[in-house]
Amino acid sequence: MWSDNSFSQKVGIKYPIIQAGMAGGITSPELVASVSNAGGLGSIGAGYMTLKDLQDTIQKVKSLTKETFSVNLFTPEVVTVDQAKVDQANEWLSHFRHDLNITETPEVKTVTDDNFKQQIDLIIEENIKICSFTFGIPDQDIIDKLKSKGILLIGTATTVDEAIKNEEKGIDIIVMQGSEAGGHRGSFLDSHQTSMIGTMALIPQVVDQVNIPVIAAGGITDGRGLVAALALGAEGVQMGTAFVTSLESGSPDIAKQAILKSHEVSTVVTSTFSGKPARGLNNLFIEQMSKYEDALPQYPIQNTLTQPIRKSAAKEKRIEYMSLWCGQNLRTLNSKSASDIIKDTVAQADKVLGQIK
Ligand SMILES: Cc1cc2nc3c(=O)[nH]c(=O)nc-3n(C[C@H](O)[C@H](O)[C@H](O)COP(=O)(O)O)c2cc1C
Repeated sequence: MWSDNSFSQKVGIKYPIIQAGMAGGITSPELVASVSNAGGLGSIGAGYMTLKDLQDTIQKVKSLTKETFSVNLFTPEVVTVDQAKVDQANEWLSHFRHDLNITETPEVKTVTDDNFKQQIDLIIEENIKICSFTFGIPDQDIIDKLKSKGILLIGTATTVDEAIKNEEKGIDIIVMQGSEAGGHRGSFLDSHQTSMIGTMALIPQVVDQVNIPVIAAGGITDGRGLVAALALGAEGVQMGTAFVTSLESGSPDIAKQAILKSHEVSTVVTSTFSGKPARGLNNLFIEQMSKYEDALPQYPIQNTLTQPIRKSAAKEKRIEYMSLWCGQNLRTLNSKSASDIIKDTVAQADKVLGQIK
C-alpha cells in the first residue's frame, strides 16, 4: 500500500499527507483537527503566536481530535535593529497607514528569541509528539532538548545542502520546499534567488543524498501531485495552499475568494511585507513597495512594521493591501472541508496508481 511507509509509520498517521503549519491565523483548531481526523497530519502554524494563543490552540485541537498533530515554529533570526532603515521604511509605509486611518507608527527596538524558547517549553509540557521548523535549523541545545523527550522533528529545506545540514543536526524528516510553494521561503544557506528550485527537480536530487524521509512541498494540491511526489522518491507531501481555501481555514473570506479566482501567473515572490521572500498574489502594495525591496529592514522587523496595515486591510476588506500567501497551483483549488480534501487526494492517488498499473 503506497500510504504505508517509514514516514507514515514514524509519525503514526494513515496517509502521508501533512497540512502545512501556516502562521497568521489560517490553521484554525478545526482545520488541524479535521486533517488529523481524516488520517493526515494536521499542523498548528505557531510562528507568530504568543504563548497564550499557542496554549489555547493546542487545548482546542486536543478537544477536537485524539489523533497526532504537530506544531510548526519559526527558527528565530535575532537580527540587530538598524533605526535608520526602520525610519525610512516607516516613511515609505506611511501613505498606506494614512489610507487605512492608522494613526500609530510601529516601533521595533530589539529582536529576541524569548518567545520561541517559551514555545519550545510549552510543546514539551503539552506532550506534543511532532514539531516542525522553517527559516533554518534551531540551535543544537533546542534539538537535543526536544529529542530527549522523544519529540519527532521535521525541518524545511530548499536545496540539497540545506537538507544535508538538517540531517547532520539530527532532524528526523525533511520537507523539501519547491519554488512553486506558497508562503515564505525556508531558504537559509544561499540567497533565495539561487534556491528557487522546482519540486520536480528538487525531490530526486535530495532523495539520492539523504537517509531521512523526504516530504515534497510546493504545487501539490491533489492525488496527481501526491503520486508524482511518491514517484520521485518522496515519502509524503506537505500541502499548504490547498488548505488555505478550505472550509475550516481561518483565512479571511475575501482572501479565499481572491485565491480561488487566481491562476498560475497570479503570484510573485516578494520581501515587501515581511523582509523575507514569500510567494503570494500580486497586488498594489507589492507593486508600490517593490522598488524599495533591497533597502527594507530584514525579517522580522519589516513584518512588525507592516502588521497593522495587513490587519486593518483585512478588517476593511482592502485586498490591495493584504498579504495573500499562496502557491502557483491555483486552478485546482476548492473550498471543501479539509477532511474531504484529504479523502479526495487519497481517492485520486488510488485511481492514478490503478491507471499506471
Ligand atoms: C498561507 C501560507 C502560509 C504559510 N506559512 C508557513 C509557516 O508558518 N510555516 C511553514 O513551515 N511553512 C509555511 N508555509 C509554506 C508551507 O509549509 C509549504 O512549503 C507550502 O505551502 C507548499 O506549497 P503549496 O502552497 O503550493 O502547497 C505557508 C504557506 C502558505 C500558502
